[in-house]
Amino acid sequence: MSIVPVPRVAVIVVAAGSGQRLGAGAPKAFVGLDAHTMLRHALRGVCDGPVAQVIVVAPADRVGDARTDAVEAAGDRRDLVSVVPGGATRQASVAAGLAAVWPDVEVVLVHDAARALTPASVFTRVVAAVDSGQDAVVPVLPVVDTIKRVEGATVLTGVDRDGLAAAQTPQGFRRDVLETAYRLAAAEHTDDAALVQAAGFPVFTAAGDELSFKITTPADLDRARGLVAPIPPVVAALDPRPALPRVGVGTDVHAFGGDGGLWLAGLEWPGEQGLHGHSDGDAVAHAIVDALLAAAGLGDIGTHFGTDHPEYAGAHAEAFLVRTRALLAEAGFAIGNVSVQVQARRPRFAARRGEAEAVLSAALGAPVAVSATTTDGLGFTGTGDGVAAFAVALVVPA
Ligand code: CTP
Ligand code: MG
Repeated sequence: MSIVPVPRVAVIVVAAGSGQRLGAGAPKAFVGLDAHTMLRHALRGVCDGPVAQVIVVAPADRVGDARTDAVEAAGDRRDLVSVVPGGATRQASVAAGLAAVWPDVEVVLVHDAARALTPASVFTRVVAAVDSGQDAVVPVLPVVDTIKRVEGATVLTGVDRDGLAAAQTPQGFRRDVLETAYRLAAAEHTDDAALVQAAGFPVFTAAGDELSFKITTPADLDRARGLVAPIPPVVAALDPRPALPRVGVGTDVHAFGGDGGLWLAGLEWPGEQGLHGHSDGDAVAHAIVDALLAAAGLGDIGTHFGTDHPEYAGAHAEAFLVRTRALLAEAGFAIGNVSVQVQARRPRFAARRGEAEAVLSAALGAPVAVSATTTDGLGFTGTGDGVAAFAVALVVPA
């Protein structure tokens, strides 16, 4: 893993649209071009371009998937990527991305994930144009078709195409210009250049690229599928420094009083009162999941297992841990070990500690140490109102 300096460029990749016109049954950016999503391909162009903070704006229920794509695409630059939930319109989604731009950034590019094949050279060109002193830069292509102004089925006039250009993304801006324009925005605009222009700033062009077309309809998708270059398999980076392990912490608390019996640390505890929770309320398993996801930089339990994932309603520890292990493997991490401590008056762990360790370790394929303590009658764990668990996990880049 390399340490990358704080970048002066940020790229906001908007991927929060629903893709109505494509009608593929999934949010457009998550539709596959080959074995990889549109977003994953779009991020290749982004990550092969100038070193930049990369902010992916995703539908709220796809933040976890977007993060998996982003971390994979970023490779050594994984610390530069983040994912935020989008808004109801493209403009609201860009605003959400803009709010996540780091303080030292001076140049912001906004790119449509739907332009999945945009080559890195366009990003380089747009950044260079902004650096040369232009406030706002739009990549464009000349219009090749003859254009008519029509009303219904009637042609009104021809339009001289000499004065026309087709606008693409990434569009690049001086950060303060884009922020000012978004602060002033009083209407919805179809792109960021229009919004910046409405705020009174001059907008300049740079050369666009034929591959940068926007995938909007099923025909566009077919075209993109015919043109897409495969993403090479991930190869180990030629970084002479050893890959550093990473740690994460997680905690969880559940109150007694659930409907079923007690499940804790992956074990069923006959005769004990159950815990509240969307799943089985197993605070030990949930703390472990949070610690592992944090260590790998993959968000938290709500990102991957929230109430919008009904398949985890009532699920037990094993389902959570097996899925977490798979998420980490996809992101290139092996689990080193996990230590988890449970604070509870009941149940009594002493006799079943080894059993709990065996179940949790088997699900993760890595050693899990379980310890337990009471809290001398203090706090909610001491009164027996609920249980708390604290986990620390170590993961290693695989
Ligand atoms: N976009 C977004 N948030 C929205 C709407 C759009 O982030 N609320 C993003 C899309 O994900 C896409 C880009 O803006 O990458 C361009 O929008 P468009 O091509 O119109 O995509 P969709 O809105 O998803 O498609 P449609 O209009 O057909 O529903
Ligand atoms: Mg749209």
